[in-house]
Amino acid sequence: MKIGIDKMAFATTDKYLDLRELARARNVDPDKYTIGIGQDQQAVVPPTQDIVTLAAAAAQKLLTPAAARRISTVIVATESGIDNSKAAAIYVKRLLGLSDFVRTVELKEACYSATAGLQFARGIVALNPQEEVLVIATDIARYGLNTPGEVTQGAGAVAMLVSRDPRVLAIEETSVSLTKDIMDFWRPLYATEALVDGKYSTSVYIDCFKEVLTRYQQLTGRPLADFGALLFHLPFTKMGKKALAAVLGDRTDGTAERLRQALTASQWACRQVGNLYTGSLYLALMSYLQNGDAHRGSRLGLFSYGSGAEGEFFTGILQPQFAENILPLTPALRQRQRVSVTEYERLFDEQLGMNPADVAFTTENDACPFVLTGQQDHQRQYRAN
Ligand code: HMG
Repeated sequence: MKIGIDKMAFATTDKYLDLRELARARNVDPDKYTIGIGQDQQAVVPPTQDIVTLAAAAAQKLLTPAAARRISTVIVATESGIDNSKAAAIYVKRLLGLSDFVRTVELKEACYSATAGLQFARGIVALNPQEEVLVIATDIARYGLNTPGEVTQGAGAVAMLVSRDPRVLAIEETSVSLTKDIMDFWRPLYATEALVDGKYSTSVYIDCFKEVLTRYQQLTGRPLADFGALLFHLPFTKMGKKALAAVLGDRTDGTAERLRQALTASQWACRQVGNLYTGSLYLALMSYLQNGDAHRGSRLGLFSYGSGAEGEFFTGILQPQFAENILPLTPALRQRQRVSVTEYERLFDEQLGMNPADVAFTTENDACPFVLTGQQDHQRQYRAN
């Protein structure tokens, strides 16, 4: 039985920052951000948006009444948790109006956990082929104002329906996971921003990629020529370029050219929203499928990486109806309003964060379909907008 991704949608906030403007405000050469890091814009998060509102906005695009009835399980993958106990998936389930008879859970392992969610979803569908699983990767990447990581911030969610006879990507059997206890990036319980050993994190990422790919190739005997594209977790687009270069070297043959072109197509969306943490790999997949030279029947290789650290390399076969089942990325990106650096800094400091006090946010400037209206008696308040 084929099992995999049946449909995909993406959502981000309705505001963005131009990174050339940020570079000027930080006294940095703008080329460092746009070429050295490979980012042009980043999503700006108003206090009325969080992982729940973003997740619900992405998932709502996928849901017809019939699809909603088939969902047995909602898995929300995130490392930007809003509660140490209650799963964000429960709020999302309520905002989407799903049946009470569903299973809901939140998964965490840095940027990796949506891939775990996808693999767990395959298991659920294998046991219950009539069921569908809604897997949502949703995150807000925050490093802090004036930090080296600031240019790699971002926000957004990717929602995926996992089913039998999928219309986008049938996931293949062989995958390789790798886990090592490494301190490259983490967020202690008392912190709202991540701590990161930036340069170290990039080398750990590449080592992990090479190790899982090598093992995958030992297990399957598949050369790189068997792949239509290699897709990467993209904390910033230069990271994908470094990872691909680590396995291609200076090869100039047709395979190398195809994989480089596919990478460029996969980077298009990340350049405009930044790091989505759990969703980055899946946004790269959507970006490639909408901008690249993708063909039905083609084998795609996906590298998922989460600091801490865990990586997985897995593959899928592109299905004939993939194009109709990747919801367009452009509207979410085009409908955004550009904000100044001053406005971005103000919004950055207005997040609910660790503040226990009651608060009511003004939502009239938020054009997203779901909003966080504030906090009352230590409870977050959400509603459709
Ligand atoms: P930095 O201090 O800005 O690094 O930190 P840099 O000074 O080396 O500059 C970066 C690049 O810009 C270099 O190119 C420079 O040469 C170039 P590279 O050598 O890397 O190819 N550059 C210029 N290019 C053009 N014109 C110029 C110019 N000046 C310099 N004028 C760093 C960069 C990525 C480390 C920092 O932004 C950071 O710490 N980011 C956050 C950590 C991160 O994203 N790590 C990625 C791997 S870990 C991961 O992916 C997991 C993660 O998503 C979290 C999770 O799993 O939950 C992060």
